[in-house]
Amino acid sequence: MEQKPSKAAATDDPALVAAFEARIAAGESIEPKDWMPDRYRRQLTRMMSQHAHSEIVGMLPEGNWITRAPSLRRKMCLIAKVQDEAGHGLYIYCGTETLGTDRQTLVEQLLDGTAKYSSIFNYPTLTWADIGCIGWLVDGAAIVNQTVLAKASYGPYARAMIRICKEENFHKRQGYEIVATLATGTPAQKAMVQDALNRWWWPSLMMFGPSDKDSPNSAELLKWRVKRKTNDELRQRFVNLTVPQAQAVGLTFPDPDLKYDEASEDWKFGAIDWDEFFEVIKGNGPCNQDRIAARRKAHDEGQWVREASAAYAEKNAARSTEAA
Ligand SMILES: [Fe+2]
Ligand SMILES: [Fe+2]
Repeated sequence: MEQKPSKAAATDDPALVAAFEARIAAGESIEPKDWMPDRYRRQLTRMMSQHAHSEIVGMLPEGNWITRAPSLRRKMCLIAKVQDEAGHGLYIYCGTETLGTDRQTLVEQLLDGTAKYSSIFNYPTLTWADIGCIGWLVDGAAIVNQTVLAKASYGPYARAMIRICKEENFHKRQGYEIVATLATGTPAQKAMVQDALNRWWWPSLMMFGPSDKDSPNSAELLKWRVKRKTNDELRQRFVNLTVPQAQAVGLTFPDPDLKYDEASEDWKFGAIDWDEFFEVIKGNGPCNQDRIAARRKAHDEGQWVREASAAYAEKNAARSTEAA
């Protein structure tokens, strides 16, 4: 199924747009069958599908460590977490389908490279400490983002976020537990987790997206309350939450400019290397090619399952017609 044309196709009726914006301003939730500007539908489809793809691709760096988790407990937690991420992906794909684009189309866009996913998942997981840092920092950043998205104007997206955030809290805790254990362990363990934090810190800050002045979609998404806070506000909130957590276990940040500002009560941080971010987004990160190759392989290997379930559905439909 292709994108549904909006009822007021290319040029939306200004009266409808005004009524829609009044509903948003009144804090009403927009539901799938409500009228919405075509651009709102397209922006949400882009944003939600990018989110769903990130959940699915995000399983890859961690899945890489399931067989090597250092204990049965850690292995069980990691399996459960990775499985949760699959659930988040499917849940958000379903939410995206309510806007009129089916999952098949969305998945094809991921596989052919026309859709994006979070830049963070293009970095490698070199040691077990990376799994701790992903849960602590990457899921931690996701919570900051998603807590605000739970108040987004589009009902199905907001409701998905409420449910997903509950699970993300477990993900963050399992990550921080790994980090805290290593940070208070042997000198070698402490060095391993410090190295992981050094590698994951800046990419985690990039996860919130470009600075607001360089974010082409931000203003519109804020106006329609798809986003409720700017990228820079969310990034600052994440830094403020995370710095004391690192300090509590004696870890440091790879940022000589990081310092507490009494006046704003913010942890001010140094300049982010946006060239690196845009290179990763363009497909030149350390693992971009591996990630897409792994998704294509999984998709190809699942072809027989999709065919079998379609054949089964057809057979069932034929049986019930016969019975009738
Ligand atoms: Fe998730
Ligand atoms: Fe998660």
